[in-house]
Amino acid sequence: MTNPAIAANGLRKAYGEKTVLDGIDLSIPAGTVFALLGPNGAGKTTAVKILSTLIPPGQGSGAISVGGHDLATDAQAVRAAIGVTGQFSAVDGLITGEENMLLMADLHHLSKAEGRRVAADLLERFDLTEAAKKPASTYSGGMKRRLDIAMTLVGGPRIIFLDEPTTGLDPRSRHSMWQMIRGLVADGVTVFLTTQYLEEADELADRIAVLHHGKIAAEGTADELKRIVPGGHVRLRFTDPTAYRAAAAALGDETVRDDEVLALQLPSDGTQRDLRAVLDRLDAAGIEADELTVHTPDLDDVFFALTETEAATDTAAGIPAPSKETVR
Ligand SMILES: Nc1ncnc2c1ncn2[C@@H]1O[C@H](COP(=O)(O)OP(=O)(O)OP(=O)(O)O)[C@@H](O)[C@H]1O
Ligand SMILES: [Mg+2]
Repeated sequence: MTNPAIAANGLRKAYGEKTVLDGIDLSIPAGTVFALLGPNGAGKTTAVKILSTLIPPGQGSGAISVGGHDLATDAQAVRAAIGVTGQFSAVDGLITGEENMLLMADLHHLSKAEGRRVAADLLERFDLTEAAKKPASTYSGGMKRRLDIAMTLVGGPRIIFLDEPTTGLDPRSRHSMWQMIRGLVADGVTVFLTTQYLEEADELADRIAVLHHGKIAAEGTADELKRIVPGGHVRLRFTDPTAYRAAAAALGDETVRDDEVLALQLPSDGTQRDLRAVLDRLDAAGIEADELTVHTPDLDDVFFALTETEAATDTAAGIPAPSKETVR
């Protein structure tokens, strides 16, 4: 087995009294995409900043290695191996897109000719050639974001950190950003990404971790995470109250009734066999539903399930959260 591109043991960070990261373990294989998910303030940017040497890890952190280099003893080598696109833009608006790129080329000690070649190539790849000679302050949010990432790639990093790469982008720009990230991975680049969009993690990531209250609340592939929440169900709607009541009786104990809108909900894994069983029972009772929808759990369910449990603990000191029994 090859060494992971990024490895951390018991990563910690506190600001004063506030613990932001409370012992995070990471092991990210080279050439894969890892997505760190978490609500605002969970510590995603803090993790990115530590792993990319922008801020030191906290007291009591274990060993951290990035690109095979020890972060504590060889930060310079780590910096040479990585590229970072921060949550907030590094683009200088006063100069043109091209000048921003050439500045990065200078920072990477590329020769003038090589710098021009790399800049032109990346501007082309990110569809910025036409705008290259205009001041970056005139760019749209999506163009600035693309320039930001193009700048990150100037030194040809093998590991890149993207802190919320698509926040604020429209759906089309988001999809082209995803294409671009997939292209990098196809070239063997390792991507560490943070996001608020569960769909984005689902689309891109080989492994996903949900950060909450300083710890990784769950980690796995998108499918593994979806399996940990029992969110799948079938929902049936009726217009005729008699049919509704008959269906509730026919479908048994696990059915949750919503008398107001004449809807029934019952747990289901969404398989054909499972759906057929439901329909057979309705058929046997001579009932037809007016609407049937199947809900398979998605990462939103995972996210809410994981972050809700902790939110419920939070309320222990204040107003108690209503329990499932009392809301029924
Ligand atoms: N320099 C700092 N000094 C004090 N507290 C800080 C500092 N930087 C971050 N924090 C705190 O650490 C916590 C985590 O912040 P961080 O920016 O890592 O969260 P995040 O997950 O990236 O959130 P967001 O989704 O809003 O970007 C927050 O409570 C934040 O206020
Ligand atoms: Mg952040």
